Order: sequence, then structure tokens, then C-alpha cells
Amino acid sequence: MSEMLSIALPKGRLGEKVYAMFEKAGYECPAVMEGGRRLIFENPEKGVRYFWVKPSDVAIYVERGAADIGVAGKDILLEYEPDIYELLDLGVGKCRMAIAAKKGFVDDPSRTLRVATKFANITAGYYAKKGRDIDIIHLNGSIELAPILGLSSVICDIVETGNTLRENDLEVIEEVVPISARLIANRAAYKFRYEKIMELTSAVGAQKEN
Ligand code: PRP
Repeated sequence: MSEMLSIALPKGRLGEKVYAMFEKAGYECPAVMEGGRRLIFENPEKGVRYFWVKPSDVAIYVERGAADIGVAGKDILLEYEPDIYELLDLGVGKCRMAIAAKKGFVDDPSRTLRVATKFANITAGYYAKKGRDIDIIHLNGSIELAPILGLSSVICDIVETGNTLRENDLEVIEEVVPISARLIANRAAYKFRYEKIMELTSAVGAQKEN
């Protein structure tokens, strides 16, 4: 049992795409894709045990050692700065973190800028580097509503297709950072299970599309 490598996958479409890469790499565990409400799946022959976890929680499982490795978005890693190793850019779940505002918005640098976001740490770091004084309004979702209702002047959020911005008459005014899914490892597991983790990392890396 304890020989198995524990892998935290992010629940949802991205996680399914990532699992397909693991499967092609030789770490299959067919029960993972069976649906239903089960959260833990094992394939002792391949030495793997998968968990489905909330995407924003993967880094916590890995940091605390409940999972040896996992897959987390770069947005989560930048925001929470978990004490983990980042092993590989998986090249999937690509999107960008950007500043957006209502069309025609012009910043008045003499006033504090109100920024609504789920990513307070990334936002604070980005504007600190520019020396811009801001007031962060921390929201948990539907961030795009904030500038429309006058709660904030701009937002700092994930943009994937750009549809959410377009459909709400908002536009990107600055790029903050490109985002994609990363393979991460617990620090102790990396040290003590180095060979197995490296073997998996290169096999999964070989499945990248570009
Ligand atoms: C994310 C993000 C944007 C949207 C971007 O929201 O916060 O709202 O997706 O994708 P798009 O550019 O393809 O439209 P999510 O669906 O996670 O919901 P929430 O932030 O409102 O909870």
C-alpha cells in the first residue's frame, strides 16, 4: 500500500485531460474515469493511487504530504506560494491572468485604484512592482460584475477564451502572467521517492503536445 505513489488530480475537465496524459504515460487506473462519487482509486500493479480534489486544494494536499504529487494551476501556486517543488509545465489548462476594465476605462494615477479579484497576493505583487497604489476588493467569483456595478474600477482575473469579458463589455488592459497546469511534488516525497517521481515526470512530460 504505502509503496504506491499518491497523486492528487484537480476535479473537472482539466483533471480529466491530465489523467489522460498519465494514462498514456503508462500510469493507467481505469476506475478513475468511471464517474460516480468515489474519490480514491488505486492500481497497485502500476504503483499509483489517484484522488480527485478541488482544483484549488491540490497544492495543500501536496504541501502537507497527503499526496506525493499533484497537478495545480500556476495561478494557485503564485497566489498561495505553497512549499512544494514544481516539476513540469504540463502545457494544458493554458490561460492568462490579466487586468480588465470596462471598455474605454482610463486610469487616473492620482487616485487609489480599486481592484476586484480572487487573487489578492498576485494582484498586490503586480501593482507593488509598478508602484501603483491600490485597494483590493476580495471576491470569490463572478469577478466581472465588480466594474459593471461600480464596486471596482478594474479586475485581476483569469482569461481563457475571453468570452466572459466580451459578453460583459469588458476588455483586457494589461497582461499579468501566463498560466498553465503544473506537476508538483511534496518536498519529502521528492527526496525519498526520487526515482519513481522522476520516472513518472519524464513519462508524463513525453505526452505533452508541444
Ligand atoms: C473563470 C474566470 C473568468 C472566466 C474566464 O471563472 O474567473 O470569469 O473563467 O474564462 P473565459 O475567458 O473563457 O470566459 P470561473 O468559471 O472559474 O467562475 P468564477 O470565477 O465566477 O467562480
